[in-house]
Formats: sequence, structure tokens, C-alpha cells
Amino acid sequence: MAGEEAAVPMFKRSAVQIPGPRGGIFADHLEAYEANPATFLEECRQRYGDVFRFDTDVVVVTEPAVINTVLVHTNRDNVPNANPLHGGRFPTPEQTRQWMRTRQVALPVLKPASLPSRLPSVSRTVAADLRALEGAWFDPAERAWRICVSALLPLYFPEPPPELTDALLTAFVEGRRAGQAGIRIPSWWPSRLRRRVQAADQRIRDQIAPLLTRDPPGADGLPGTLLEHILDRPEPVPADVAQAALGITVLGAIGTMGGAWCWLLYHLAAHPEAFERIRAEVAAAAPHELGAHPERALPYTQAFVHEVLRVHPPAWLLGRDAITSVTLGDLEVPAGTAIMFSPYLLHHDARWWDEPERFDPGRWLRAGPQHAPGAYLPFAAGPRGCLGTHLGMAILLLTAAHLTTDFHLETSDLDQVSADFGPTLIPTAMSCRLTARSGTAERP
Ligand code: HEM
Repeated sequence: MAGEEAAVPMFKRSAVQIPGPRGGIFADHLEAYEANPATFLEECRQRYGDVFRFDTDVVVVTEPAVINTVLVHTNRDNVPNANPLHGGRFPTPEQTRQWMRTRQVALPVLKPASLPSRLPSVSRTVAADLRALEGAWFDPAERAWRICVSALLPLYFPEPPPELTDALLTAFVEGRRAGQAGIRIPSWWPSRLRRRVQAADQRIRDQIAPLLTRDPPGADGLPGTLLEHILDRPEPVPADVAQAALGITVLGAIGTMGGAWCWLLYHLAAHPEAFERIRAEVAAAAPHELGAHPERALPYTQAFVHEVLRVHPPAWLLGRDAITSVTLGDLEVPAGTAIMFSPYLLHHDARWWDEPERFDPGRWLRAGPQHAPGAYLPFAAGPRGCLGTHLGMAILLLTAAHLTTDFHLETSDLDQVSADFGPTLIPTAMSCRLTARSGTAERP
């Protein structure tokens, strides 16, 4: 690719002395970090301040204003952390431009104004997927990924091909495995892991390619899915941009959306009074409003979902790689530094929230600011923040609505459930069972 030569190697040595654990995380602290990553990071914050060195060329920032400055300047001063499988290189300016074009192509279908026409079909998918779970015990962390892909695809394709769901899930699992391995593989290294990820990505492209050569289907007469929108545009969308919009944006959503789905079930089970209140709110809502505008119809449920995402943000640790030297508070860090921040730490910091350890949906319904500015970041922010914020919220609201209305929810002992601070935050060792409430009617 033309701009490839411009790519800058990522790991220059840092010259600045930023406070942090001696020798970095790998010297003496790995065990403490792995035992409880969030606690370790919080202890570092208390000891070293709001900007600390975590490892060679890795700093952690815990102050909302500084984090938000970093996020706002993404694509200019920094880029999202490089994919370890892409040889540890910054994306070229051309690759970034291409991705921003992809975002622009997907946005008209994902923006709030476009959702109402498509949400009823998302809602039917969510309801059917919950019904399919009925009766048997299941671990949400095993089911969430497929359920989330299935909820997203009605916005993307009029008739989502089932093989595409499988291809997306395989790519997600391979990518997650690679992320967990946490190794940066130089681009010349013959790696099996990267080969498997590339093969999975190719399967997604193979599924999408034939759909892009057809006439716009437009079969259901509704304002278009993303595929129809792409095929209908006056100027053709380049094939790789169309492929990325239809495939990679879903792939980007699975881990976070799935993690949020798991924690939603956890908190619905942990707070039976909230479960009943959501059920009552759904029963009182006008059906057409519920189907198209769940955020308007269900204010308490929306507060509940915000609280779930506050207490357990699936994207609990995020980062940017500085492509130029940047100032963080009163410290200057050079190009090549990875700047990490944790929505989890932010959301649990008593400097920015009242009683952060209390699960309290009501905080979102009270007048006045619920938190210090910039201290709530479940979807990150800035030019590379989440593309599917409104859709993600809608899927969680619809899940809460169908689940509380149509089912009883039983779980294994929630005290035994722990949080896995992996690539995304998910509950481990949780078991759930849905049992149909008698006489439940189908919802829109
Ligand atoms: C509750 C559900 C969701 C949560 C908590 C969530 C969270 C996030 C976060 C924190 C990021 C930023 C990552 C970073 O800064 O490095 C992100 C990025 C992204 N999200 Fe979501 N997300 C959710 C649902 C969705 C959905 C439904 C879509 C569907 C399109 C989506 C598509 C994306 C994409 C494409 C990106 C990459 C943006 C970029 O790099 O330009 N997300 N998401």
C-alpha cells in the first residue's frame, strides 16, 4: 500500500521519568496485577497520582479531563492501540482516512434518527433469541456473542445470511484469543495465530462479497438496512470500505455488546425490585413507542442500563498510542507511548461520583449532574468513540423489556460470580435459567 512506508515503528524508548511501579509491571508486580487488575491500577493511582508509568512506554491516566483531551485528539495526536497482529505499527494516515470513511458510510443507518424504523425487527430478534434460551441452564458468557450478532444484523442486511453470523463469531473468537495472548507479532513473523485471524476475516469478506454485487433488495419496504444504503448510494462505495462497514463494524461491537448483555442479566438477577419495576414500566408503555423509541418509553430501564454500564463497563481498559509527543496534565510523554485509561476506574472513583460502590439506577433520574464532567465513558468518546452507542443502548433496553415481561430469571449463587478483567469485562461462572411466565403475549 502506498502510505505503508510512512508507518512509524511503535516502540521508541521513553526518556521521561514518570512515577510508577519500579521496573514496570513485569518486574515484580505481574502476579498482583493478574490477581486483580483493577485493584492494582487503583493502588498505583493512589500511590503515584493521576498519571503513572505502568511499564516501559506505557502510562495510565485516571483524570477525566486529561482522558477526554486524549480522546478528542485521536487521529491527530494518537491512534487507538495497534492491533498486535498487525506488526505493532501505527496505522498509516491513509488507513485512518479509509476507516473514517467507513464510519461515515455506516453512520446514516446507526444514528439515532434512523433507528426507529429498524428497531421493531431488532426487537423481534431479541425476543426470539430469549425464547430459544428458555428452560435450560446457560452461561451468559457463552451465549452473549451469538445473541448480540443476531440482534445487530437486522440493521445491516434485509436477510442476514446465517453463514455470516458464524464467520463473524469465528473471527471474534480468534481475535479474542490473539488479544488474550497479548503478544505483538512483527509483520514478517510466520504466525499461526495471525494466519487463523486472517482466514476468519477472509470468510467474512467471502460472505459479504456476493451481496455487494446484487441490486438493492428493498424487499420489506422499510427505510434501508446498511446493505441497501450502500447499494443505493449515487456514487459507488469502494468495495473495501463497504466490506469494512458491513463486517468490521459488527466485529468491533461483539465483545463490548456481549459483555454488556451478560452484566445486564447479572444485575437483573441481583436486583429483583428493579426487575419488577422494569416489568411494570414495560407493561405501562405504549407498544408502538416501546418498539421504536425504547429510550423514551422506558426511562427507569434506561437508568438501570446506564448503571449496569457504569458499574461494569465491558470496555474496562482502553488505550491510545501517541503518534506525537503529548502533554498529560503537567507531564510530557514522547511519541510511541501507549496511553491507557480505565472506564472502570473512572466509574468507581469517589472523587467523581457519589457512593460509586452502590448500584443505584436512581442516580440517573435525579436532577443535576450525576458525576463529574467526562467521568462516564462506557462508549469512550471523540472521533474514535463507539459507533453504535444508540443501537447498543436500544438492544439492552429491548432485552431488559422482553426478559422481565416474558420470563422469570433464576441464577446460580451470584456471590460466586466474579468479574474477569480480560479483553472485555465479563462475569465468570454465572449460570442462568429463563422460565416463561404464563400468559405472556408477544411484543412488537
Ligand atoms: C453496550 C454496547 C456497547 C458498548 C459498551 C460499546 C463500547 C465501545 C467502546 C468503549 C468503544 C471505543 C473503543 C476505543 O476507544 O478504543 C467502541 C468502539 C466501537 N464500537 Fe461500540 N460498544 C457497544 C455497542 C456497539 C454496537 C451496537 C456497535 C455497532 C455498530 C458498535 C460498534 C463499534 C465500532 C465499529 C467501534 C470502533 C470505533 C472506531 O475505532 O472508530 N458498538 N465501542
